[in-house]
Amino acid sequence: KDLKDQMVIDAGQKHFGATVCKSCGMVYSVANPEDEAQHGQYHQRFLEGIKYVGWKNERVVAEFWDGKIILVRQSDPKYAIKKVEDVRELVDNELGFKQVALACPTQTQTYLFVSVNKIVGCLIAEPVRQAFRVLSEPVESPTKNSLEHHRAWCCSTKPEKVVCGVSRIWVFSLMRRKGIARRLVDVVRHRFVFGSCLSINEIAFSDPTPDGKLFAAKYCQT
Ligand code: ACO
Ligand code: ZN
Repeated sequence: KDLKDQMVIDAGQKHFGATVCKSCGMVYSVANPEDEAQHGQYHQRFLEGIKYVGWKNERVVAEFWDGKIILVRQSDPKYAIKKVEDVRELVDNELGFKQVALACPTQTQTYLFVSVNKIVGCLIAEPVRQAFRVLSEPVESPTKNSLEHHRAWCCSTKPEKVVCGVSRIWVFSLMRRKGIARRLVDVVRHRFVFGSCLSINEIAFSDPTPDGKLFAAKYCQT
């Protein structure tokens, strides 16, 4: 009986404490003023960052019932590059990337999934010549902390020829598991090199997160 009571209390507290904001997706505790203040700041910056009002010369590369994908190249007008940089900053922030440089800035292509005036997905693709395949099991290393530990996937030692590297892929937390990442990668394969369609083996995902790895494993299988 004691155990049962305890479980009820725990569940109640969790439900009481944590909230997911329905607009920005942040998980925070309403009961904690510091948390709430942090949410207030993040909320505004995030929504401003993903806001997309439409550009006169936007390059629409795919259209769906629930949105469209636009491509931004580095030679595009300043306002487009600025938007891409703002989104990349939000994504890097979420991924915990700190100023990870792009391999070849002039050749970078950014694909944005836009849904009802919001950028809800982003894929940054770069030309890459070789990559090491990620093997299925993560390396267990007791000396590393848990974050590094998750990143320490085991890679093959044999480099493979690839054409396109996905340096970042991100989907807004409240819009995941709707095939947005899948559609972004499909479009990149058709668009990255003019006039040809890349096979799955010709694209590589760099430094995947646990989410990224689960997605990539599924995408590469099907
Ligand atoms: N867990 C298990 N399977 C998954 C997951 C997951 N978290 N995400 C995707 N999949 C698999 C599923 O099989 C899914 O199909 P289903 O929903 O029918 O089962 C299939 O992949 C296709 O998934 P999508 O819906 O296309 O993926 P989504 O739009 O949700 O985006 C992404 C996936 C980009 C990884 C998203 O979870 C995300 O933004 N995560 C946080 C940022 C991140 O970690 N990005 C990857 C960084 S690595 C890099 O950038 C190279
Ligand atoms: Zn919010």
